[in-house]
Amino acid sequence: MPITHKTITMPAKPNGAEARAHSNIALAKYWGKASVANNIPAVPSISVTLQAMTTTTSVRFDASIERDTLWLNGTLADDRATRRVSGLLDRVRAVSQATSFAFVRSDNDFPTASGLASSASAFAALAMAAVRAAGLPMDHAMISDLARRSSASAARSIFGGFVRLPAGNKDTALLPACQLCGSDHWDLRVVVCVVSDKSKAVASTDGMMHTAQTSPYYGAWLDLCAALSPRIERSILERDLPGLGEAAEQSALAMHACALSSAPGLLYFEPASIGCLHAVRSLRRNGLEAYATMDAGPHVKVLTSASNANEVETQMQQVPGVIRTIVSKIGGDANVEDLP
Ligand code: PMV
Repeated sequence: MPITHKTITMPAKPNGAEARAHSNIALAKYWGKASVANNIPAVPSISVTLQAMTTTTSVRFDASIERDTLWLNGTLADDRATRRVSGLLDRVRAVSQATSFAFVRSDNDFPTASGLASSASAFAALAMAAVRAAGLPMDHAMISDLARRSSASAARSIFGGFVRLPAGNKDTALLPACQLCGSDHWDLRVVVCVVSDKSKAVASTDGMMHTAQTSPYYGAWLDLCAALSPRIERSILERDLPGLGEAAEQSALAMHACALSSAPGLLYFEPASIGCLHAVRSLRRNGLEAYATMDAGPHVKVLTSASNANEVETQMQQVPGVIRTIVSKIGGDANVEDLP
C-alpha cells in the first residue's frame, strides 16, 4: 500500500541514532563547482561554526516501512526534501548492512520560516546519525565527505571552531573538510541579522552553475579565492580580527558581485541587506570591530569580538527591515548518540 500523509504517524521515540550539528558561515566563500556530478568545490572555503544554530536529526532504519520518511520540524516533508535525504541514505546503504528504508526526524532550534534553514547543519547531522545508525565506523573525515556530497557547506559542519574545505578538481573522489582550530581558539561572535521571511529565490547549486556559465568575472573570482583563502587562514591562526574581517567581507562581496554579473544577474540582496552593509561600515567608523558577510540569501551576518557583540546587536536592530537578530558564539563539533 502506498504510504500517504494520512497513514503515517510520527514515531515518538525512534530506535537508531540521534545527531546534533551546528550551522556554519563561510568567511572564505565557496561559490562554483569543479564537478557538478560529484559536488566538488572549485574554490577553497573556510567557515566558522555557529553555536546558536543547531539541527538535531534522528535516523532509524526500519524493515517495516516502504520508503524513506522525513519529518522536518514536526511536519511530514515534501518529495523534493525527502529525495535529497534518500540520496545520502542510499550512499550509506550502499556501504553498510543497513538495507531498509529509514525514518528521519530533523528539528532546528532556530526559526526556519525566516529562510535561515541551513543545509549545512541539516546534512551534517543527517550524515552523523545515518552512519551511526547503520553501524559504520565513526570516521569524521569519511562522514564529512559523505555530507559534502549532499551539500558542500555541510562537510564543514561536522567540525567545530574554524574549518577548511579544500578545492578539488573534476577527478577528485574524496574531499572531506578539516578543522583549522577548535572553538576555544578565539572568542568571537557572529550577529545574524534576519531581514526577510521569504525563502531564497535561487538555490545555491543553480546559482553557482548559472554564474560559472554566464559571468564574465567567474575566472577572476576563482583567482581571488586562491589569494584570499591563505590570508583568511593566517588571520584566524593569528587572531587578527581586522585582517580576517576585511578579507571575509571582500570574499562575500566579490561572490555577490560575480553572481550579480551573470546573465540574468542573480540578486540575493533585499533593501535591508544594503542597509545592514552600510550600518556595519558606520560601526567601524565609530571604532567598533564589525565585519559583514552574506550567503546566497538576503541576511547579513556580522563578525565581531565578544566585547563588542552587545553594542553591535543593538545597533543592527535599529536598521530598517531587520526583523530579528541572533547572536552566536563559536560552536563545537557535531555529535551523535545511540537511541534506545
Ligand atoms: O554547499 P551549499 O549548497 O550549502 O552552498 C553554500 C554556498 C554559500 O553558502 C553561499 C557559501 C558557503 O561557502 O557556505
